[in-house]
Amino acid sequence: MCGIVGYVGAREAAPLIIDGLQRLEYRGYDSAGIAVIHNAQIHLRRDVGKLNNLRAKLEQAPLQGNIGVGHTRWATHGIPAEHNAHPHLSMDGRFVIVHNGIVENFRELREELQAEGVQFRSETDSEVIAHLVAAHAANGAHGDLAEAVRRAAARLKGAHAIVALSTDQPDRLVAVRIGNAGGVAVGIGDGEYFVASDIPAILDYTRRVVFLDDRQMALISNDGYEVTDLSRKPVPVSVHTIPWDPIGAARGEYAHFMQKEIFEQGRSLTDTLRGRVMFEQAEICLPELNLDAATARRLRRIAIVACGTSYFSGLVGKFYFEKLARVQVDVDYGSEFRYRDPIIDETTAVLAITQSGETVDTLAALEEARRKRATIWSIVNAVGSQAMRIADGALTMNAGPEIGVASTKAFTASVVDQYLLALYLAQLRGTLAPNDIRQHIADLARLPALVGQALETDGAVRQLAEVLASYKNFLFLGRGINYPIALEGALKLKEISYLHAEGYPAGEMKHGPIALVDETMPVVAIALKDALYDKMISQIEQVKARRGIVVALATEGDTAIAQKADHVIYLPETPPLLAPVVAVIPLQLLAYHVAVHRGADVDQPRNLAKSVTVE
Ligand code: AGP
Repeated sequence: MCGIVGYVGAREAAPLIIDGLQRLEYRGYDSAGIAVIHNAQIHLRRDVGKLNNLRAKLEQAPLQGNIGVGHTRWATHGIPAEHNAHPHLSMDGRFVIVHNGIVENFRELREELQAEGVQFRSETDSEVIAHLVAAHAANGAHGDLAEAVRRAAARLKGAHAIVALSTDQPDRLVAVRIGNAGGVAVGIGDGEYFVASDIPAILDYTRRVVFLDDRQMALISNDGYEVTDLSRKPVPVSVHTIPWDPIGAARGEYAHFMQKEIFEQGRSLTDTLRGRVMFEQAEICLPELNLDAATARRLRRIAIVACGTSYFSGLVGKFYFEKLARVQVDVDYGSEFRYRDPIIDETTAVLAITQSGETVDTLAALEEARRKRATIWSIVNAVGSQAMRIADGALTMNAGPEIGVASTKAFTASVVDQYLLALYLAQLRGTLAPNDIRQHIADLARLPALVGQALETDGAVRQLAEVLASYKNFLFLGRGINYPIALEGALKLKEISYLHAEGYPAGEMKHGPIALVDETMPVVAIALKDALYDKMISQIEQVKARRGIVVALATEGDTAIAQKADHVIYLPETPPLLAPVVAVIPLQLLAYHVAVHRGADVDQPRNLAKSVTVE
């Protein structure tokens, strides 16, 4: 899940590329590098570790030149080290490439190239691409960079995003996208052009963007850009204007992007609802789904596919679709779905939930859906992403750029998008009376204020985090629609504080996990006033009877629970279907404050990346 930024224009390339990479550092960050062409020579700077190390190197030895490419790496083959950092050069130093993805046949290519006398300088799979481009440029492509890249790409197995430059044609960048190894976006500036794996890298410079589809390439120079397929045939492209503003992608006065994104949720959910809820008519309006009533009534099943936090969002959505639209729902991990030969057909809608829109496991599940002729829907945050472009109908989360690796505002936005979609289906299928729809809409109208009240628990949660930060293992318990929130709360804590945490359906405790409980085990219990409250209280009592430490999320006014739990975080009275959105807020804050207390790298937790574009 590497970050790629390229530039060609009248300005100095290096500062623009480095600033762009800084905005992509969340995508993968164990080393970074940049190559710039100046006076018909490729100049390279690379370093291991954070981007600031590379920035320091450039301050010592600046690079001049108006065309270049940079890369932040999330290592797959070859340890994080300077010699394994991208960009990678051909042996003669005339070609340079950066790469996102995995060259699945790199060993045989490496042996073939070594047999022809190529000496490798790295242990990476990506380096083979630089040497293949050079070889094709010399044999058959007659020095034409685009042709050499095209021929080299044809030898690669796997999914790839590649950007290449050459001193033979020092005025152009060539970019290629094959499969789902992360996006390739061409930014159209004023007499200057950019290429990036993710659009936050270029939002400071332009919001006009063309996205490459699978098996497409772009030839970019000072004079403009051309997009073709892999046989070099020009293809029609649409220029998207990205609504995100650069300020929105900046941290502002917050200590971390994650903190900013947690606190943005009142506003971001307002944006998620905007234009989709006709409050007066009590109607939901989702034209972007391209769905008519007849098709909606023919729907027999929804198969939700997603990964990580987005998968937990899908577990909440299952309650909405089954309860409101009376459609059977299965929820699968993207990485599992296509291997179980799922029973789906034209009466199935496969719904992908993905913040980045580029998660390769989720995209692969959609390919399986397409193969079995299911309708494809997606709920995405990244405008123009692959999951958005290949869907028959796509709902955007409208949460704005989510930079923190730990997903927060995109999670709540995707839950609300599913609520809206379930109500829309109920409208089309006639499974809800208009008055019921009106009540759900009235509930949704209260959500931003309820989230604002939940955010006011920040002080209490921060104090609680200081108490809990020294524990090593946690259990998160929930029931019904709040069970997925127990899973999400556990994931949030483990992925940014590196503490072990497990989410469990509370009813399962007596079937094993309660053996774990003792005075060293904090148990976070979501015990809001709902139909399962009494059962949650009984679980809390079982934990207390074994000297466990109980942290309860409770409904304001519930004084009884304070007699049973060690710590209580009170939340406003919330309609049961919206409880997941409100209950997740203090759990996001808990994970955040524990991680900060432990000095963890909140926005760029170790071993993780924001967009997982490798299998
Ligand atoms: C969430 O906090 C994690 N960063 C991760 O589980 C993430 O949700 C998962 O990789 C899916 O990403 P997507 O929504 O972009 O597909």
